[in-house]
Amino acid sequence: MPNTPLEKQVPRRSFLDILLGVGVLGAAGSALFPVLRYLKPLPLEAAGGPVKLSDDDLATIESDHFVIVRVGPKRVIVFRDSTEEVHALAAKCTHEGCTVQFSFEETIVWCACHNGRFDIDGRVLSGPPPKPLAEYAVQTSDDGGIIVNMEIA
Ligand code: FES
Repeated sequence: MPNTPLEKQVPRRSFLDILLGVGVLGAAGSALFPVLRYLKPLPLEAAGGPVKLSDDDLATIESDHFVIVRVGPKRVIVFRDSTEEVHALAAKCTHEGCTVQFSFEETIVWCACHNGRFDIDGRVLSGPPPKPLAEYAVQTSDDGGIIVNMEIA
């Protein structure tokens, strides 16, 4: 039986050597990755550390009364209430995970998916959400910036 073109180019033994080499490299990579991540941790922002809102985020708060920012793997809703106090809550609804929004007119955090309603401290007011939204600490900097800290307030 004649050899196919692939068998002519890469003999079976070489192909198995390559496959073995890829397997060894993969195993070495999976063993080394946690060690390297330990020696060189993610930057604070990527790990969920304090995040200073950008000028665009601040402008969005001015125009829309709230902004959704990503802090590490989490979505956070940051808003300013009618007394100018800034709040930061988990933006993921505790019912089925929809992203909440801030209603400045009603002074509530609202989930449009099933009409879940939270007060500005994240406590459930009505609707199906079973738990409050996590509340995060917020600081304002001297230059008017807003810093969200992922420590629970
Ligand atoms: S997902 Fe928010 S109320 Fe259902």
